[in-house]
Amino acid sequence: MTAKRVVPHHVAIVMDGNGRWATRRYLPRVAGHKKGVDALRACVRHCGDIGVKVLTVFAFSSENWNRPAEEVSGLMELLAVALSREVPQLQAEGVRIHFVGDRSNLSDKVRSGLAQAEAATAGNNRLVFNICFNYGGRWDVAQAAAGLAARGETITEQSLDRAMALSHVPDPDLLIRTGGEMRISNFLLWQAAYSELYFTDKLWPEFDAAALDKAVADYGRRERRFGKTSEQVAAETGRGRKAA
Ligand code: FPP
Repeated sequence: MTAKRVVPHHVAIVMDGNGRWATRRYLPRVAGHKKGVDALRACVRHCGDIGVKVLTVFAFSSENWNRPAEEVSGLMELLAVALSREVPQLQAEGVRIHFVGDRSNLSDKVRSGLAQAEAATAGNNRLVFNICFNYGGRWDVAQAAAGLAARGETITEQSLDRAMALSHVPDPDLLIRTGGEMRISNFLLWQAAYSELYFTDKLWPEFDAAALDKAVADYGRRERRFGKTSEQVAAETGRGRKAA
């Protein structure tokens, strides 16, 4: 009998390594981001196929504004092109798009592109696809706290959680970072409290369905304890190590 695959409900990804992928080929960095869009398309499709219900990706961080102007404008342009090209297919695949991040300093054109993609896919429910754009984990905690304060609400873990930008989905089960670095880089600081972390040296443009399967298989071998003991978890789930 083959063991049943444990599929994470929510996968989050720091898609790192586009720049290095391009530089190694003597291409401009934006060419790496373009290739990154191809990898992302395949990843979204594979997540839907294997039963992942929520995918959250880090597409543009609050700190990415500090990159060369040419790269920033290239990423904005890429987003606009990718949305107009990809939304019909995502729509057909039952993907619901949410943009997560600070929209206040985005151009009108980018802002309306985000709103249109969200509206066009609002009726879908096969896979929730959160694209973190102009996002930072600290920004999210601060905006959530500021919102509660402005409304005169008490700050508790529960009220903050409800005010966070990802309150429409449960916390990520598996957080993947490609590109060989082992840090969180201001991604999902609040929501990743109990996520399983998975790091791979693969650069994002090389991260394919097989690489995602490998990460999911690794996740399936982890024991999630949420602060409890191994014995408690085994008693509750029937999985994992039994008490001696
Ligand atoms: C990190 O690679 C990646 C980004 C900053 C952008 C990620 C964006 C995509 C995959 C494309 C999808 C996004 C849009 C806008 C549709 P890096 O440039 O930091 O790589 P490096 O560490 O090798 O320099």
